[in-house]
Parts: sequence; structure tokens; C-alpha cells
Amino acid sequence: MNKSALNLKKKILELTSEYYQVAHRDRTPFVPGKSRIPYSGRVFNEEELINLVDSSLEFWLSYGRYSKKFEEKFADFIGVKHFSLVNSGSSANLLAFMVLTSDKLRERKINRNDEVITVAAAFPTTIAPIVQYGAVPVFVDIELGTYNIDVSLLEEALTKRTKAVMLAHNMGNPFNVDAVKDFCKKNNLWLIEDNCDALGSKYRGQYTGTFGDIATSSFYPPHHITMGEGGGVYTNSSELSQIINSLRDWGRDCWCSSGKDNTCRKRFGWKLGELPSGYDHKYIFSHFGYNLKATDMQAAIGCAQLNKLQKFSDSRSKNFKFLYDQLKEFEDIFYLPHATPDTNPSWFGFVLTVREDSGFTRKDIIDSLEKNNIQTRMLFAGNLLKQPCFDSMREKGGGFRVAGSLNMTDYVMNNTFWVGVYPGMDEIRLKTIVDCIKNFVSNNLNNK
Ligand SMILES: Cc1ncc(COP(=O)(O)O)c(C=O)c1O
Repeated sequence: MNKSALNLKKKILELTSEYYQVAHRDRTPFVPGKSRIPYSGRVFNEEELINLVDSSLEFWLSYGRYSKKFEEKFADFIGVKHFSLVNSGSSANLLAFMVLTSDKLRERKINRNDEVITVAAAFPTTIAPIVQYGAVPVFVDIELGTYNIDVSLLEEALTKRTKAVMLAHNMGNPFNVDAVKDFCKKNNLWLIEDNCDALGSKYRGQYTGTFGDIATSSFYPPHHITMGEGGGVYTNSSELSQIINSLRDWGRDCWCSSGKDNTCRKRFGWKLGELPSGYDHKYIFSHFGYNLKATDMQAAIGCAQLNKLQKFSDSRSKNFKFLYDQLKEFEDIFYLPHATPDTNPSWFGFVLTVREDSGFTRKDIIDSLEKNNIQTRMLFAGNLLKQPCFDSMREKGGGFRVAGSLNMTDYVMNNTFWVGVYPGMDEIRLKTIVDCIKNFVSNNLNNK
């Protein structure tokens, strides 16, 4: 870059920092009941803006130095060998599943009509790739309180056609990794961890997302770190990583980074399929793939966010503990959230389930919270099987299976909601939530 361009860039980046202070630092005083308390949101400072502007001035746009840096830093942080950046958590789930359908995996590949064990109290795109491919999701019930799979039901869900278990660490709370892993090992099943809501959570001191064959992350704004839209697929297997990148990048056989040629040093030396010998490796396709890549500008934001991840996780834990300590007196009114044994969750939110004999409904309490400008959320799809996207499958009665009952899942669909614990919360906001819940409960206790 020439000297005047460098000088101009320096000025622009200095101005960007100043712009952040003027435009983005919110100095409006918080007024309980009047100011909005969102369930989550972007938490950033001038570092994210500077990286974004720097990347946009560079104008590389596609996979570049920030993408490479993000992939390396993420893999290093969480402790995996391979991390592939993609454009969303849903794309990450699509890739993580479709990788396991690759012919390259021979007899272990997932075929149409093979079964994948999962839960219905889920985000839809954990399950969508299974249905879209024509495999059969097998739904198992969850536990109240942890909101994760009831592992005592795993054996009941198993058939000769079972090939994989695909599960999220729900709301940041790790599922019982030992039990699920043992089950997968014993039955030669793949394990996909949807880690989209649990980045930074630990099970027996080790980060979630490092236990299964493949894991996924989302970097959509409510998640633990953000780049606007974005996601990642990670694995310790070189074989799976190569297939992930092939499927992400149009299905190509070549693994050159964008703008690079001949990384394999035999670009015109391959003989694959029925193509003529020496056909350009850049245009050899070993899979029917997608284009799920992110831009370098997304990665630039992600690099700044990654530096804050530990602080964000600590803040989520602290906020969760505040809400828990203040609300634990209501154990007989709500099922309170609790961590799976031997875990240190990086909570996605604070989940409350209204008990049967509380004297009020979920609608009553969320109406009251929303009226007080406190944003609430459901536990995603509730029971996914009751969603309209399942209408035709329910009518035909095929394409999925339920192992046992989904009683707890239905209970969650009808009675569960959550409020935020994200790092943008402070004590006054948390206390406002607590006060609103306490007022609501005391006004409704006589209904009991
Ligand atoms: C558990 C889980 N998996 C996957 C996703 C999808 O991520 P994205 O919104 O980045 O597509 C979400 C979305 O928030 C989620 O909560």
C-alpha cells in the first residue's frame, strides 16, 4: 500500500473509533419499566468497528486474512484441530449433517431412511437437514430444569437403522455428554453437537463442541459472540474437515483458499471420475455442494468478538446467578433452571417453567413482563412436531418417529419462557426483571 493510502487509512480508523464513541455509546439513562430490556443483543466497542472498516477498505471481500485468523483463533480457543467459517449457524448444521452423507465415508455414511436421534424441544434448523435429506429424525423427550435430552430414553430410541445423534446443548446447558458419548460409542453412531447456544460452556472442564465428531456454532447477534450473520463447523477429524470444506465450497475437490492456485502442487496432475487426466483440479467436484462461505468483513468483526468471549461467558454466568439467587424462593411456583452435573454453562438465557398449580399461566406472566418492556422468548419451537412445518408429515404419519412420549416437551411448549442474561445486562436491568416477576407473583398468589 502506498504512503498516502496508509496515512488516509490511519485517519479513517481514528475517526471510526471516535464515531463509535459518538454514535454507539448509549448514554441514555435506564428507566425501570420504561426502557427496553432485550433478551439479547450485540455487545461491541470500537474494536469491532475498526476491524470492519479495515476489512472493507482492504476490499478483499471473500475468504481472506481475517477469515483465516478467525478460523485459527477459534480452533485454538476451543481446542479443536479444524474450524470452517460459514455464513450462519443453520448453514453449519446443514454442513455438519450433510458431511455424514458423503460417499467418502463408505459404510458409515448416513443414507436416506436411516435414523438420527434428537429432541423436539429444539431450534428447527438442528433438525431440518435430517428431514431435507430424507433421513428420519427420532424424537426423545427432555428433562424439565436442564431442558436437555433424558438420556435414560436413548436405548428405547435405538434401532438397526440408527446412524447418529444430533443434539444442541440447550440454552447453553450441556447435555449429559458422558451418557450420550458412551451410547454413541457402544452403537457406532456419529455424534453432532449443535453448540450454537453454548459457546464457552464446559463439561467436566472441557469446552462443549469438542466431544462429538462434529460441532456447530452460530454468530447471529443473540449468540455468545456475533458477526451479524455467521457460523462455524468444527471437528478433530481431517477426513471430515476436508468433506466439510468441499461441501461448503461448491462441492469442489480442490482446497485452495480464495485467490490461490495450485496449493496441492499437482493442479493439472489429477485423474478423478471419468474426467480426462490432468483436468484442472480447481474444477473437479467430488460432492454436490453448496456455497455457504462468509465474507472477510464478517470474520473481521468475529476476530474482535473472540477476544471478548471469556469475559462474555463470565458475565452470562454472573447474570444467571443473580437471577437464580433472587428467584430461588419461587421454587414452588416455577421449575427453575439448573445446570447438568459437572458442567459450567455459558448460559444463553434464564429459563422459567410455570408449575401446574401456580395459579397463573405462562401467558399471564409474559404479558406482564412484556408490558414492562422486558423482552421474553419461548424455548424455540416448543415441540417441533406441533409446528406447521410438520403438518404434512403428521398427516402422512411418516418421515419421523417418536420414541416413547414427549410429555415434558409438550409441558415446555405450554409453560416455558425465558429472559436474557447476555453481557449487555447490568444489575439495575436484572433487578428490574426480578422486581417485575416478584410483583407479578405477589399479585397472583391469591389465585392459587
Ligand atoms: C440451537 C441453535 N441451532 C442453530 C441455530 C441457527 O443459527 P443461525 O441463526 O445462525 O442460522 C440457532 C439459532 O439461533 C440455535 O439456537
